[in-house]
Amino acid sequence: MTSQTIPLRSVVQAAVWAPSVHNTQPWSFVIEGDEIRLRADTDRRLSVSDPTGREMFISCGAAVFTLRTALRALGWEAIVHVLPDPDRPVLVATVKPGDPVDPDEHTLLLHAEITRRRTHRAGFSGLPVSEPLLDAMVRHAGDEGARLTLVDGPAERVLAALTTAAQLTARRDRTQNLELRRWGRPPGSGYGDGVPADAYPNAPRRTHPHFEQRDYAADNPWGNSDEQVSAATTGQVALVTTSGDAVADWITAGQALQHVLLHASAYGVGAAFHTQALEFPPLRSFIADYLCAGERPQLIIRLGYPLTETAGVRRRIEDVLDED
Ligand SMILES: Cc1cc2nc3c(=O)[nH]c(=O)nc-3n(C[C@H](O)[C@H](O)[C@H](O)COP(=O)(O)O)c2cc1C
Repeated sequence: MTSQTIPLRSVVQAAVWAPSVHNTQPWSFVIEGDEIRLRADTDRRLSVSDPTGREMFISCGAAVFTLRTALRALGWEAIVHVLPDPDRPVLVATVKPGDPVDPDEHTLLLHAEITRRRTHRAGFSGLPVSEPLLDAMVRHAGDEGARLTLVDGPAERVLAALTTAAQLTARRDRTQNLELRRWGRPPGSGYGDGVPADAYPNAPRRTHPHFEQRDYAADNPWGNSDEQVSAATTGQVALVTTSGDAVADWITAGQALQHVLLHASAYGVGAAFHTQALEFPPLRSFIADYLCAGERPQLIIRLGYPLTETAGVRRRIEDVLDED
């Protein structure tokens, strides 16, 4: 197969299933010749809660990892340049097919999860995630140049409390609330972005410790019923951290995140995100100083076996891709 006949469109079609903050999908793609270019779409940045674009670039990093995985699963080495042009700071990455390869089992395993993986927004079953599986996730984050640190005991309770503090503060802030409302979608919405009402329970069971969910329903009676769930647990709390805190580090965090999430998903493990506290600089500094051994915290997640399923939506490929 020549590079002209490699179905790069299908590679982009896979990448749009990467996770992104509030499902903003803050990206656009160009296919020119045999190159895919991924740009951050700054119009979709959360100007109130993400003024530096950190979460936007993490989201784009997750899309970069997905491009790499999809291309490799098709049988091509991915040649990736992250931030290839200092004069174009929103050009996140270029990805090109290199030599043909036989996709390895791990790549195929991850590839099968790209569209299946979903964000979870409730407690988990009591079944603990096994140590070998957690070890593999830690290793994969490291492979991408980031760190996945498992958080237990007092540190777990501190993170839960900071999440509550951030959530209560955000709820009282009019501009934060308005921004969140823009991305929470009512039932039956035909939007291809934002968080649909069937992507979270309307009254999630409390866990111990409890990690507050974002209020995507904004006090409306939206969300799925999870009445069949009688008890739920927190699951394994973890932090994704990087050694630096520049745009390149945020993209690294996104690639590591997606590697971890896809691997987890292949073994039936889902992830819930609680990034509220990291949107408040003093709370983020506190978490960096006391819980991250000098690393920079990029994401707070919980891992476990979901008891319910959630829905996912994406924009149409035509709305995000320019082809020559
Ligand atoms: C940087 C980042 C931050 C996120 N923060 C949260 C969060 O605080 N709460 C939450 O419920 N989901 C969070 N998410 C998950 C997104 O809402 C989710 O990826 C998006 O809605 C798409 O849904 P899907 O992951 O099920 O495909 C975050 C995702 C990213 C990449």
